[in-house]
Amino acid sequence: MSWRRSIRTAADKPSTPAVAGSGNGLNAGAFLDIEEILRRVRPVSTSLASAFHGEDHWREVASIGLDLAQSTPGCDEIVVLLFAVLHDARRIGDDHDPPHGGRGAALVRSLGLRQFGLGETQLALAETACRDHTGGGLSADPTIGTCWDADRLTLRRVGIEPAARYMSTPSGRAAAASGRRFARVTEWSALARRVGGP
Ligand SMILES: [Fe+2]
Repeated sequence: MSWRRSIRTAADKPSTPAVAGSGNGLNAGAFLDIEEILRRVRPVSTSLASAFHGEDHWREVASIGLDLAQSTPGCDEIVVLLFAVLHDARRIGDDHDPPHGGRGAALVRSLGLRQFGLGETQLALAETACRDHTGGGLSADPTIGTCWDADRLTLRRVGIEPAARYMSTPSGRAAAASGRRFARVTEWSALARRVGGP
């Protein structure tokens, strides 16, 4: 099965029932030291060299996710940024690999993220978003939905036009329906500043 086929398969699965939203308990004071987190993730990543699921993709998901978050009430931008870095980090190859969501989720606990000021609610959201992003479902949780929408809005890189019906949030649906093109961000530091980093 080709990488293109595997991505389409995930997106084409019927939606699962919406994930219950958290919507509270967000650690508003958290500042994500993204450069330090990247220093921890890169050595254990199995996708770093991938043109489709490597660091350029992580950054694109982060950039789009932070854009969507601005118009998504209740969305935790810190979690969106964390999801972007971790969700495909443990992907093996560009073909069919559904368990990579679970492997990415495991990084949430193994990287010592509490020392970055992340709260339990944020860690749990990041874990769920990573673990279930391969299932092709939708989420009613604004943070998880934004994570998944951002990932799906990058499908143009593999020649697939994102479809509004696979988007969880109004912002994601609007972006897909309008064919919105997002600005390309090339520096993690620019993204970190958008969530209060130095
Ligand atoms: Fe992805």
